[in-house]
Amino acid sequence: MSIVASPVYAAFLISSVSDTNDRCGAGRVNNDDLLKYNRDAWNKQVNDANRWTRPVSIDVINEARSGKFEIVLTPTIPVPAVWFPELTGADTLCLASGGGQQAPVLAAAGANVTVFDNSPAQLDQDRFVAQRDGLSMRFVEGDMADLAVFPDQSFDFIFHPCSNGFAVNVLPVWRECFRVLRSGGVMMAGFTNPLRYLFEDERVENGSLAVVHSLPYSDLDHLDEPHIQNAIRAGKPLEFAHTLTDQIGGQLRAGFLLSAMFEDRYADSDNDPISKFTDTFIATRAIKP
Ligand SMILES: C[S@@+](CC[C@H](N)C(=O)[O-])C[C@H]1O[C@@H](n2cnc3c(N)ncnc32)[C@H](O)[C@@H]1O
Repeated sequence: MSIVASPVYAAFLISSVSDTNDRCGAGRVNNDDLLKYNRDAWNKQVNDANRWTRPVSIDVINEARSGKFEIVLTPTIPVPAVWFPELTGADTLCLASGGGQQAPVLAAAGANVTVFDNSPAQLDQDRFVAQRDGLSMRFVEGDMADLAVFPDQSFDFIFHPCSNGFAVNVLPVWRECFRVLRSGGVMMAGFTNPLRYLFEDERVENGSLAVVHSLPYSDLDHLDEPHIQNAIRAGKPLEFAHTLTDQIGGQLRAGFLLSAMFEDRYADSDNDPISKFTDTFIATRAIKP
């Protein structure tokens, strides 16, 4: 791989190996540098008003207070009501879920919510809703693969919307979720079907569905290519596509039992070329026995 003469890249191009389980190129970067880069990138997404950073309205919170709410793990389909555990007083971890969206809704519905995210600006969106609407919530900044700040069995419910595509390795995320959940607890997760990343244009900028990438996919393996150079210049987060073995098998290997799932895709209005043909997002409901 050629080294690109940009200070942004330079931070990543170091040779330490951070996790021997890595299957997505982590051996070529330091995880702290990746976290730092993606933190800045998500802070920028807040400035740019990315759809996953826009706080919910006061009306949505007021409805949730009376038990009426819909939240998503994936782009479009609301999580079925029957998936939720009793929320009143449930110790709930909204994992890599900043943006003032799901966490304050669950808090308004009665849950005791901790929102955990790598981006302080994303956490500020949740703080904004909490202050605006008088909700009591806890805000913790950190890496989803390391929940050491929480003792074992701290939560009854984990809500983890599509965000593990920003983690270089998803297996530690499932292991940590299992550890911090209480027995009988529920974990809901959304994630991307890796098939999205087969295509030349996995960022859907020119609509090309030519198959060029093998899976699992890592942006770190393509740092010198134009599509990643453009993404980094635009301050976009770096992404990873984990295999279904790691996404679904990884939950099972961590000890979870799966009780339900559904697939989803972008809405027609998003003009996503792949969504014209197939679902590319998956939501799962898991239980810690
Ligand atoms: C697509 S947004 C998800 C939040 C949004 N509320 C939703 O509905 O999907 C992805 C989130 O993951 C967070 N994130 C990315 N990498 C992370 C990491 N390693 N640990 C914790 N959070 C991370 C980002 O800061 C961002 O808030």
